[in-house]
Amino acid sequence: MLEKNINLEGKTVLVTGAAGFIGSNLVLELLNTVDNIHIVGIDNMNDYYDVSLKEYRLEQISKCLEAVSGTFVFIRDSIANKEIINSIFDEYKPSVVVNLAAQAGVRYSITNPDAYIESNMIGFYNILEACRHNEVEHLVYASSSSVYGSNKKVPYSTEDKVDNPVSLYAATKKSNELMAHAYSKLYNIPSTGLRFFTVYGPAGRPDMAYFGFTNKLRNNETIRIFNYGNCKRDFTYIDDIVEGVKRIMQVAPLRQNGEDGLPIPPYKVYNIGNNSPENLLDFVDILQQELIKAEVLPADYDFETHKRLVAMQPGDVPVTYADTSALEKDFGFKPSTSLREGLRSFAEWYKEFYK
Ligand SMILES: NC(=O)c1ccc[n+]([C@@H]2O[C@H](COP(=O)([O-])OP(=O)(O)OC[C@H]3O[C@@H](n4cnc5c(N)ncnc54)[C@H](O)[C@@H]3O)[C@@H](O)[C@H]2O)c1
Repeated sequence: MLEKNINLEGKTVLVTGAAGFIGSNLVLELLNTVDNIHIVGIDNMNDYYDVSLKEYRLEQISKCLEAVSGTFVFIRDSIANKEIINSIFDEYKPSVVVNLAAQAGVRYSITNPDAYIESNMIGFYNILEACRHNEVEHLVYASSSSVYGSNKKVPYSTEDKVDNPVSLYAATKKSNELMAHAYSKLYNIPSTGLRFFTVYGPAGRPDMAYFGFTNKLRNNETIRIFNYGNCKRDFTYIDDIVEGVKRIMQVAPLRQNGEDGLPIPPYKVYNIGNNSPENLLDFVDILQQELIKAEVLPADYDFETHKRLVAMQPGDVPVTYADTSALEKDFGFKPSTSLREGLRSFAEWYKEFYK
């Protein structure tokens, strides 16, 4: 296992995408478990999906502040705004930066490519530049399992070649890894990229299948199951992701010089996935059972008439499967929440939120 070299207590941490699904849960976890942590959150609150969910997540953070020693400052702006990013770094001088702000989603990148270039490329570049000109101990940033494209070899390993993205979203995430590598090498910035695998849970993203299916089933609409159900996804529960990010934040890749006297880039990339892919049809089956159990759907719901098996969508991949051996070796950690447990928490939250 690697030794912690960053103590988050009393530190200032910048979390971008703080009103997002993963960002808000990370902020809550840090506030609840780290004494005197000072978190600066930025999010542009865009309406890619229902903004009331982002507002709900920020409310959860506000409520949590009453009982903790740390602080949280929220800035509603875009990471693509260089002046704002520079002023945040000038004012708050974050020691650790977690970049989660991005335009997510594979399918949306086909119709709205501009949003990806603005947030994922220009926004990330602004973060890198700000890290370059400030004393940042560790930059942690979200990559994605989508960088594996249509690689055939599973499980996906960070040792595999990932030069064949099949969506612009994936291309921006791979580009982020390349840009981070160059900045780590040139300016000795310790950086860790995290390839997340299909993250789900309460107050998650409505553009993702488990949430979209639930909305449709509740409205008596038919759900479309792509690739005729022959898809496998490594579903990863939000609490596991947050635990992984928190551990990784505290272990910055070491700054070392090579034989040429120049820095060996303090650069790492990890998969964070469940290491246990589930068939889409099994997943839908468990989801339906848990929705009935939570009384989101009636006990006699005729599920069979509400599902349609259809062909694969452009940009999609048939399987995602994370090799998490590096995560286990370096951090003694591996996601462990079962799909049933995770979907149960989602269904119970959904019932409460939309009651
Ligand atoms: N959820 C997943 O399954 C998954 C999988 C792989 C990678 N990721 C990556 O993890 C990160 C977080 O994902 P998430 O699921 O929480 O998504 P999310 O959309 O819920 O969160 C992203 C947040 O960033 C904000 N944002 C977008 N562009 C911005 C900009 N230019 N400036 C400031 N804020 C901006 C959005 O308003 C949103 O609240 C993203 O980088 C995403 O690409 C997520």
